[in-house]
Amino acid sequence: MIKVISLLKFQLKVLSMYFKDSNWSKEKTKEFFFYILYYLMNICYYSFLCFAEYIFILKNKKLKEIDNKITDIYKNDNQFWVSLKEGYSIKTEKISNLTYGETSYLAIKYSLDFIKLNSQDVFYDLGCGTGKNVFFSNIVYNAKSIGIDLIKSFIDNANNIVKEFDLKNITFIRKSIFDADLNNGTVFYITPTCFDRDNLNKLFNKIKTLPKGSRLIVLSIEINLPELKKLGQKKLFYSWGLADTFYYQVV
Ligand SMILES: C[S@@+](CC[C@H](N)C(=O)[O-])C[C@H]1O[C@@H](n2cnc3c(N)ncnc32)[C@H](O)[C@@H]1O
Repeated sequence: MIKVISLLKFQLKVLSMYFKDSNWSKEKTKEFFFYILYYLMNICYYSFLCFAEYIFILKNKKLKEIDNKITDIYKNDNQFWVSLKEGYSIKTEKISNLTYGETSYLAIKYSLDFIKLNSQDVFYDLGCGTGKNVFFSNIVYNAKSIGIDLIKSFIDNANNIVKEFDLKNITFIRKSIFDADLNNGTVFYITPTCFDRDNLNKLFNKIKTLPKGSRLIVLSIEINLPELKKLGQKKLFYSWGLADTFYYQVV
């Protein structure tokens, strides 16, 4: 419920900013109702997602406690808002490349099962946001887990959770994913849905340097590189809707 209310607050903030300085016209009225309709549909979808996660995934006590903590941290300024607010001050990245969206626990569970994540693995979420996937891989699969993001609050808050819950084998680093040393990784997760052509090229070059044998989960973008063997593909649930998820092995 708190998650849904905080999304609603975010939508109202965005709506009020968008329409604040504009002169009202017939076109604007149409646009306004279109946004309201879109946001209402998004709220219904998001409520369904949160409910399904609560029933099927959040049975693990520790995971539930951490999820409650994340919800509490972002209940006023939610993660979508934090990303927008801090994203504008990052001069090295276009704001569109930092667009925030979240992987549901249902989706990350399917992906980590598919890729057979285990306790010997080192899991990286490249652009980890609040760190949900990183906590999930560490707690549920016992894998060493690392989250990287450019947004300072995401990294600081996640590191505070690590300390508070005394979690082991889990690290959050504030850095560009393109500058990070990924040599010890065995499973990589990346959501480049909104990357522009420059960043996609940087990503392809980074992928070419990943350790051989490691597995890669990529959202939305199918990648054809000789260094990658495709293992599968699946449509899964994300905070904005259904999206294709691609699985690869580095060869
Ligand atoms: C779509 S969100 C995904 C969040 C999380 N991985 C999930 O699946 O729920 C993408 C995240 O990547 C981060 N990001 C984008 N470009 C980045 C870069 N070059 N270096 C580090 N983080 C980046 C953004 O700040 C954002 O938090």
